[in-house]
Amino acid sequence: MSPDQTPAAGQPDGARPRVFSGIQPSGDLHLGTYLGALRQWVEAQHERDNVFCVVDLHAITVPEDVDPAGLRAKSREVAALYFAAGIDPDDNVVFVQSHVREHAELTWLLNCTTPLGWLYRMTQFKSKSEGRESVSTGLLDYPVLQASDILLYDTDLVPVGEDQVQHIELTRDIATRFNHLFGETFRLPKAVVPKSGARVMGFDDPETKMSKSIARERDRHAVHLLDPESKIKKTIMSAVTDSEREVRFEHASAGVKNLLGILNATTGETYEQLADRFDGKGYGDLKKAVLEAVLETLAPIQARYQELASDPAELDAILARGADRARERAARTLERAQRALGVGA
Ligand code: TYM
Repeated sequence: MSPDQTPAAGQPDGARPRVFSGIQPSGDLHLGTYLGALRQWVEAQHERDNVFCVVDLHAITVPEDVDPAGLRAKSREVAALYFAAGIDPDDNVVFVQSHVREHAELTWLLNCTTPLGWLYRMTQFKSKSEGRESVSTGLLDYPVLQASDILLYDTDLVPVGEDQVQHIELTRDIATRFNHLFGETFRLPKAVVPKSGARVMGFDDPETKMSKSIARERDRHAVHLLDPESKIKKTIMSAVTDSEREVRFEHASAGVKNLLGILNATTGETYEQLADRFDGKGYGDLKKAVLEAVLETLAPIQARYQELASDPAELDAILARGADRARERAARTLERAQRALGVGA
């Protein structure tokens, strides 16, 4: 193997850690996606060598929910939101997953080395398949495609919200097994979860994680990054708290914890500072503070998004460049895996 084909097990001195992460264009991006993932990508972008992907192949695993015309538009919208949130297109590789065939191709190779039992154990598969009469093979295989995404770019770090940690651990297991069976081929990645905002809960049901699919059915579940101010206000001011009259910090309810967590994540104020600020105050004051912080966070993103959306040709050009850069790297890793297995030209 030549040096660029060897997945060195650590970082060469001075090199930036390699990062891969992605978001599904399966619905409107919400505050949880932003605080759990997107924001941490932006904050560390210049210290790392980043590949950020709009994972559209992951968004077709439930065929009943696929809207083909809408999906293409949604992929563009999600990419535009990456840039609107602050991702610099010159310093980061940003592309749409289905534009780089290597993702699907490596998935087949990894399918053949991944035990089926590992996939049945995934909590996301269990919850997404529950109650459905028919489940696609793709829904079960979803984490293997995710492993391909990550392994193709010799990734060190995967910045994600808490719900994705199990999939990153599975990726390590898949890579370790492949390396063990066919020789050192893949670098082992690690999940990175933010200190605050790693698990934002639904405003209407603070026992459940804020999710794109629930938000499609329930109006007051989530604040979306592109929601108008009036909708954000309605959602936050009607957030579920508890029946107490004053903000309770000791044994706070799930709803109050969620609001305090969002404030902590958006303003940077610690829980002690928040305890001082809201001591003796009512839930209306807490919600107003959350509303203000969320509006302040989203206003610049919305303004930049409008600018980007007005020039779709420029956005497509950036994504095409991103796909070219991604393909170059992905092709090298795929070839390495093919060679290890004795397939490929
Ligand atoms: P997805 O599209 O569900 O979510 C995108 C990212 O947002 C985080 N997130 C949250 N964080 C905090 N609170 C929430 N309520 C919340 N909801 C979502 C997720 O943890 C995620 O980081 N399988 C992935 C997409 C994917 C991927 C990858 C991620 C495909 N390939 C490779 C990393 C690396 C998913 O469904 O994310």
